[in-house]
Amino acid sequence: MPQLSPPTAAVHHSFLAAMAEFAAEGRGGPRDDSVLGDEMRRFAATWTTRDGFAAFVAALRADSLDTTPRPPGFVPATTYWWIDGEEYLARIVVRHRLTPHLLATGGHIGYDVRPTARRRGHATEMLRAALPIAHRLGVSPALLTCDITNVASMKVIEANGGQRADEGEGIARYWVPTAPLERAVADPPPAHQPPPDQRAREK
Ligand SMILES: CC(C)(COP(=O)(O)OP(=O)(O)OC[C@H]1O[C@@H](n2cnc3c(N)ncnc32)[C@H](O)[C@@H]1OP(=O)(O)O)[C@@H](O)C(=O)NCCC(=O)NCCS
Repeated sequence: MPQLSPPTAAVHHSFLAAMAEFAAEGRGGPRDDSVLGDEMRRFAATWTTRDGFAAFVAALRADSLDTTPRPPGFVPATTYWWIDGEEYLARIVVRHRLTPHLLATGGHIGYDVRPTARRRGHATEMLRAALPIAHRLGVSPALLTCDITNVASMKVIEANGGQRADEGEGIARYWVPTAPLERAVADPPPAHQPPPDQRAREK
């Protein structure tokens, strides 16, 4: 059974195979502005060695700490890998808070499943498993965004309770509840807190 794991050196071999699959579909090039693309550009030259991979894993883990230095405009982000034994399948990242840029396009949560593991329900299950973690990180609800052409990602989001907030410039934005269902129903938002779609307009 796949499960979420903090980044771990235990899946080194499988992780490299997954990255080769992403590279084969064109990821990691200069125009890939995703988190995955950024990681590929920054670490691909060194993550093939044991020490290089350990440094990459340590950098990912450190990125979840408020105290870790990061470029202006970047917020702490917690990464989990979706692994089955020593097999790396996918990655999900929870950004702890929104910036204007994340509010407009990136959202709180991003994910990608290695090409050879797609269409087996991994993204749907991985997001389901990550939502309580997002909640514990103070993300409630979570903003998820995707290209309006990304049917698979829209299905993943909607299968996890995503409510479409709006759509513009080719991007659909969804609010996804992170609280357990019974709490989400039992605890309405505090009176001082506007509903998510109103908050989005205010920022
Ligand atoms: C989008 C992505 C995460 C989906 O991962 P996945 O593990 O294949 O998703 P699932 O298996 O959970 O499938 C979810 C639904 O999408 C459907 N689906 C998956 N791939 C699809 C495709 N290429 N075209 C149409 N539907 C697709 C599945 O059939 C399933 O539908 P169902 O709920 O009706 O059964 C994966 O394709 C990916 O990593 N893409 C590249 C990165 C990316 O787009 N990340 C998301 C950015 S918002």
